Amino acid sequence: MFYLTTAIDYTNGSPHIGHAYEKVLADVIARYHRLRGDETFFLTGVDQHGQKVQQTAEKEGVHPATFVKRTTKKFIKLWETLGLEYDGWAETTDDRHKACVQGILSRLEKEGQLYKKAHSGHYSVRQEQFLSDKDRDENGKFGEEWGEVVLIEEENWYFKLSEHTEWLQGFLDSTPESVLPAFRKNELLKALERNSGTDLCISRPKERLRWGIEFPFDPDFVTYVWFDALINYVSFVGYEKPEGSDLPDFDSIWKAGGRPVHIIGKDILVPAHGIYWLCMLHAMGFSDEEMPSLLVHGWWNIKGEKMSKSLGNIVDPAELAEKFGVDALRYYLVRDIATGKDSDFDLERLIMLFNTELANELGNLCNRALNMSQRFIGGIISTTGELTEDDKALQQSLADCTATYHVAMDHFDCDKALEAVNRHVTHCNQYAERMKPWELNKDTENTERLQTVLQHLCESVAHCAVLLSPVLPEASAKLASQLKLESFEKLTLDDLKWGLLADGHSIGKPKPVFPRIQIEEVD
Ligand code: MSP
Repeated sequence: MFYLTTAIDYTNGSPHIGHAYEKVLADVIARYHRLRGDETFFLTGVDQHGQKVQQTAEKEGVHPATFVKRTTKKFIKLWETLGLEYDGWAETTDDRHKACVQGILSRLEKEGQLYKKAHSGHYSVRQEQFLSDKDRDENGKFGEEWGEVVLIEEENWYFKLSEHTEWLQGFLDSTPESVLPAFRKNELLKALERNSGTDLCISRPKERLRWGIEFPFDPDFVTYVWFDALINYVSFVGYEKPEGSDLPDFDSIWKAGGRPVHIIGKDILVPAHGIYWLCMLHAMGFSDEEMPSLLVHGWWNIKGEKMSKSLGNIVDPAELAEKFGVDALRYYLVRDIATGKDSDFDLERLIMLFNTELANELGNLCNRALNMSQRFIGGIISTTGELTEDDKALQQSLADCTATYHVAMDHFDCDKALEAVNRHVTHCNQYAERMKPWELNKDTENTERLQTVLQHLCESVAHCAVLLSPVLPEASAKLASQLKLESFEKLTLDDLKWGLLADGHSIGKPKPVFPRIQIEEVD
């Protein structure tokens, strides 16, 4: 089973374009794996506990439970709009999750992995963590990123993180796919050198924070939000589930068929996923082979700056989907960023890429191929003509496109996969310009040649519809239906051999699938 997860989004606000990017990226990768014929389980969800939620709910005068229900709905609605097809949904207030977190805490405590001690020090309210001198800036102050910093003394529960960091270092060194892309692993290794001696405080006293999962053996405390949230990756796929539970079978999802892949943003690699989570799994008894791969994506910025409420530059994905369509947004989100790197969110580029690559190039190819086939050859595909060098070159271009696409998608490089498809589309349009089917149609002597040329164009559209289906599920399904490609839903990448449209196949009528975005719509 190919098991893919995303970060679970904080529910103390509304979803923005960064959240949408990560979920669309994951959806594209999950759909690609289904297309490869891999059994796939895609889990996403929301992170509902923690101090920030408690504080925001207080400000709004509602109970945190009411507050998170409300914000969670916004996330679910957006994912529905964006066409996400997930198999599991994680909400950390779910009783099944709470029971799993408490089970893990009890076991770790019994096994001597947890201890209680008093600590006095500086605490960042915004980041919900104690700070050390290493967190001070060059002037000896705690910088703005920490928000309000207060001095507190309190008893808490600690996880013996330091007992696992030597193992972690060795695991990362010996496992190339542990963190992708490789440069992110180097960042993690450097952070690990600085961090190796400290343990992790995993509780909060109830007098300070009530909105969390209660410690099963010490009810004056709730669980630190990260310790709780990270466990979603196992709890919602049935880890140590009680008998009769409706959760899936853990072993067949987590342990059968390659490492699970966790898609996360660069900000939550160090320390949360790269250090805490991997060490937690190690303490829970997971072997090196059972450790997940962390796929770390970059950030969408706005004109080189971080998106933030205070700068007022937050991009709302629901608004964009409404204005430009879901396909345009999904396409842009995986087309204009290299997985792992940052990119600038730019509306003009969204429009430009849609209009040039989809409306002009692909749209033109589809219209031409289907329209001329209908008008000139009665919509019937014929595969019997003799092949010229041009035809063979087109078939080769398609084979190269599919091979490049396959490798790129296996490496999560959606932008490169889309570039490969676009190259083939351009090849087809140039082929059409050279073969001039509209001229061939003027003389009945050319009928067989005309049929071959149009067959090459229609066959290419059929392959492109399949290859683009992970990114553009709606548009691809429309193209497949216009081609009357009945097997479309069941096709896998292995079926992508020349001849999807058999001799005598009858295609349907073309209808534009990628209407140009008019510039006035931008304002
Ligand atoms: N709740 C934690 C994750 C817990 S996972 C066990 C969290 N939530 S978040 O809402 O702040 O972020 C969710 C995801 O969105 C993270 O992977 C984060 O990197 C990603 N993004 C947030 N802003 C982003 C951009 N501007 N661009 C791309 N992704 C960004 O962290």
